[in-house]
Amino acid sequence: MATKWGICGAGKISHDFTVALKTLSPEDHQVVAVAARNVERAQEFGKKHSIRAAYGSYVELARDPNIDVVYIGVIHPYHLNCCLLFMDAKKNVLCEKPLAMNAREVKEILDSAKRNNVFLMEAVWSRFFPASVEIRRLLAQGELGEVKMVRAEFGQPLMHLPRSMDKNLGAGTTLDLGIYPLQFSMMVYGGEKPESIKATGVCTETGVDETTVVTLKFSKGRMAVITCSSGLELDNDAVIVGTKGTIRIPAHMWCPTSVVVNGKESQYPVPESDFTLNFLNSTGMCYEAEAVRQCLLKGLKESPVMSHADSLALAEVEDEVRRQVGVVYSQDSG
Ligand SMILES: NC(=O)c1ccc[n+]([C@@H]2O[C@H](COP(=O)([O-])OP(=O)(O)OC[C@H]3O[C@@H](n4cnc5c(N)ncnc54)[C@H](OP(=O)(O)O)[C@@H]3O)[C@@H](O)[C@H]2O)c1
Repeated sequence: MATKWGICGAGKISHDFTVALKTLSPEDHQVVAVAARNVERAQEFGKKHSIRAAYGSYVELARDPNIDVVYIGVIHPYHLNCCLLFMDAKKNVLCEKPLAMNAREVKEILDSAKRNNVFLMEAVWSRFFPASVEIRRLLAQGELGEVKMVRAEFGQPLMHLPRSMDKNLGAGTTLDLGIYPLQFSMMVYGGEKPESIKATGVCTETGVDETTVVTLKFSKGRMAVITCSSGLELDNDAVIVGTKGTIRIPAHMWCPTSVVVNGKESQYPVPESDFTLNFLNSTGMCYEAEAVRQCLLKGLKESPVMSHADSLALAEVEDEVRRQVGVVYSQDSG
């Protein structure tokens, strides 16, 4: 039986996610409904993607009995309310990153998932790319010896976007881009929370972090250095250095299609599509979608690859980075 998806929000990432689902077999994945705040936008999205039901409110989507899992693709200040809405309606949820604005909101979401006994995952799609699966396999079999250092960066000039400038829309490079190298270092170190975090950054006049550098120290003297910027195009590579070798992601570390292990490169191309996409390699969201399907088939309530504990630890690190850089959201005083 196909997994029946509902899409919450008819924006850019929802479009790309829906296209990614089309690269998979319709026997396994079907989009059966979409909801937007405005019914015309929902209908337009539904027409473009041949989706049967198009709703003008998220509440109607929550009431649709024909849905196995909702993908939440709205901007992050609305993730908390949307997650609670769908999970209270006993819907499983895949929610875009960051799962919420801070750790307090993440805890509320995780509590709701447990209370409602539904599946919930933060859509950290990078972890499901075949390249990332291979990196975890190499690390688990000790290919690099003892890993001592991770360096990763993600920077793209995005300050022209309202949601990168306006704090009320969740602007800030730590939550938008920094989340990728941060989660990468935490994945490499087995989900451990760092023992110490040192962050410094440059903020706009409106108090939004534009460029941030973070050094993280994990147990046993293992380190990570993370850079993110919504103002600059960086190299966007990542390196894992161990006592016996090195793994390098040479470019676009958040959606990796190439891995260099001790100098030898392997390619992992994403599926192709005829649709125009908003974001690089975003058909690669098919890997997380299929992982969600597998979890649902097994009756799991969280993914072992991006667990609830992983989301909470990540949010706590993001909170601390923002505290040191001086970025405060209205949600922080709630
Ligand atoms: N995985 C990835 O690679 C990736 C890439 C980009 C973004 N993201 C994440 O996906 C989320 C959406 O990003 P996006 O680029 O798709 O954003 P977007 O197109 O600007 O907005 C997405 C949706 O959010 C809702 N929205 C936008 N502005 C709003 C406002 N002022 N008030 C209330 N709702 C508003 C709208 O929902 P309606 O359609 O219902 O009106 C809109 O369609 C963010 O959390 C972002 O971090 C992930």
